[in-house]
Amino acid sequence: MAKKKMHYIRLLRGPKLDTSNLKRPHISILLTITTDLGDSFLYPDEPVDLAISVENPTTGQSILLPPPDQIIDRPPRWTAGLRCLDIKVPIKPHLKKSDVTCTIRIHPATQTPPLGVLKGRDALPWSLARGSPAASKGLVMPVSVDMAKGICVPVAVRTLRLSSSKVQPQDQDTLDVDLEEDVGESIARHIWDAGVVTASYLGDACSSKEGICEILPMRKDHFNVLELGSGVGILGITLAQVIERAVAHGHTSCKTTVLLTDLPEAEERARSNIARAEVTLSRINPDGPTVTLQYEDLDWDEGRHGRFGALASARPWDLVILSDCTYNVDSLPALVGTLSALHAANVKHHEAEADTRTSVILATKPRHSSEQALFGLLSSADWRYNVLKSIPLPKLGEEDEIVDIYLLERGERNT
Ligand SMILES: C[S@@+](CC[C@H](N)C(=O)[O-])C[C@H]1O[C@@H](n2cnc3c(N)ncnc32)[C@H](O)[C@@H]1O
Repeated sequence: MAKKKMHYIRLLRGPKLDTSNLKRPHISILLTITTDLGDSFLYPDEPVDLAISVENPTTGQSILLPPPDQIIDRPPRWTAGLRCLDIKVPIKPHLKKSDVTCTIRIHPATQTPPLGVLKGRDALPWSLARGSPAASKGLVMPVSVDMAKGICVPVAVRTLRLSSSKVQPQDQDTLDVDLEEDVGESIARHIWDAGVVTASYLGDACSSKEGICEILPMRKDHFNVLELGSGVGILGITLAQVIERAVAHGHTSCKTTVLLTDLPEAEERARSNIARAEVTLSRINPDGPTVTLQYEDLDWDEGRHGRFGALASARPWDLVILSDCTYNVDSLPALVGTLSALHAANVKHHEAEADTRTSVILATKPRHSSEQALFGLLSSADWRYNVLKSIPLPKLGEEDEIVDIYLLERGERNT
């Protein structure tokens, strides 16, 4: 039987508008459906039909050619063995380039509204409804892209809808985390399974006051979080929104700083996502956001020697977070060295205080047994660790994939 994993609809280039025949204009979309690593394509037992919506972002009106004129024999269909799919989407006749400003959403046809959005609950086995498409077929992450006056910038958007698994969807307030990623291939500039699953977990587990207290080491009135290898920023931005929601609900009154860090190639996308998140933070807390999001470059080869930028040096870090950063065994010594150097910097900041603990939430989807080297390095550097949560990915097939979320700690527990 085919292995089914978590998959992503990925655009191979920005969609193109063709108005050369004004009576039959169309948008042409070239996409693939791959794993996060891009190392294998979706190979489904049953074909996966795709649905595409094309709407004006201001009016919400569709510009698709409506039925019965829309002569499509069947929806675009992904079948086993495909590596890419070329789709021509007919839009209303006589639209000129300058008329076509729209959001294009591509998602599995089985998806229930909201379209183009991945529901975090579908990534968590304990909240999956029986019979839901994710439970039976695995998860395919939708994608959206904006076209302005007939032109697409090569930026796709993933939307993750976070909610609590304890209450019914209709009864709760949800949080949408919007993340831009590059069209095409890149390591730092798109999202990964461990980030998606951990963000969904945090959205669920931190939806109550007890959950926040249990998971986040908020010991003072300021809470400082640093993310290593943040990529597009899925984990840090999710945590920022989750904490802002907790403040709005009166679950905490901490003032929080979340600093995303990565190599320079990640900066542009991370900063755009911070700008998007700042709008959401203001919406969550109309009195003014209490969470500050920042970005700074931090190369672990510098960090391991205690060489940090101005923002990373500015304060002690109560919590360090990272997801999917431990797959490259060669970079593990620099990564663990950076964690230890951050702890040493914390000890200096806290010289006058008894509590010098540093906590780390580390999420990983183990891909290879060699990654176990991480734990030897952590132990040698006096880090204590235990599994906070082990979450199987939603999929069918004989080979389980799992995201492990670890809690690491170093330092004294004197308080
Ligand atoms: C697989 S991505 C994960 C990105 C993000 N954490 C997520 O879950 O979506 C690994 C990240 O580690 C970063 N990285 C790799 N080596 C690094 C280094 N030496 N210093 C800093 N970041 C590094 C990459 O740039 C990339 O963004």
